[in-house]
Amino acid sequence: MIKIDNLVVAYGGIEALKGISLEVPSGKIVTLVGANGAGKSTTLKSIVGLVKTKSGTISYEGTDLAKLNTEIMVKKGIALVPEGRKVFADLTVLENLKIGAYTRKDKKGVEEDLEKVYSLFPRLKERTWQAAGTLSGGEQQMLAIGRALMSRPKLIMMDEPSLGLAPIVVKELFGIIKKINEEGMTVLLIEQNANAALKIADLGYIMETGTIKLKGTGKELLANEDIKKAYLGEAL
Ligand SMILES: Nc1ncnc2c1ncn2[C@@H]1O[C@H](COP(=O)(O)OP(=O)(O)OP(=O)(O)O)[C@@H](O)[C@H]1O
Ligand SMILES: [Mg+2]
Repeated sequence: MIKIDNLVVAYGGIEALKGISLEVPSGKIVTLVGANGAGKSTTLKSIVGLVKTKSGTISYEGTDLAKLNTEIMVKKGIALVPEGRKVFADLTVLENLKIGAYTRKDKKGVEEDLEKVYSLFPRLKERTWQAAGTLSGGEQQMLAIGRALMSRPKLIMMDEPSLGLAPIVVKELFGIIKKINEEGMTVLLIEQNANAALKIADLGYIMETGTIKLKGTGKELLANEDIKKAYLGEAL
């Protein structure tokens, strides 16, 4: 579905991505894990055109993504849940969710998806009329994901969705990611929570300072001794 070939991205002469290649096959959960500054967010931003690429190609269902603008990307089924919770603070929960569906004309489908988001996140339903800025951090994260789902994407990309969430909420969140994938959505997930991410991932890439150090199935990477030492650690 997404194919990245030899991608180089530089910020002011310093290469943040040094020629990475990776694939996100349709229907799968793919995760990128790696330390701070490895280039994970830069990879996602390159896919949606938020950073300028220096060389290499990114294609989506065979089309060169450099040729598409953001609105067309949304229409073609790509949604991004950005790093940090970028909800519209002054708007209500419902208004935020509706913004996610702004390119859609199928009113009935939008209503259905709203119910679906509310059933995935009952907390949001209780707080339909609350200003998003007054939601708790975890609730804002749910809203950011819910809003992305409202565009009925084929591919959802999430940048550290578990950041700052309580362990029990993280568990719930990973359950939800698994569930939306089982319903047919392709997922590209960035996580520092490598253990949880690799457990649900079909395919994982380990990034290190702008390069892909290792790739494998979630299972393989979880069992890899070097990965265990570097990223999985002991629970503190
Ligand atoms: N706008 C920018 N200008 C200059 N350097 C940048 C910019 N954005 C990112 N970088 C640098 O590029 C490198 C990769 O950053 P990136 O945000 O992709 O890392 P990351 O893997 O997402 O890290 P984290 O886990 O901390 O979010 C870092 O060294 C970062 O300082
Ligand atoms: Mg990041």
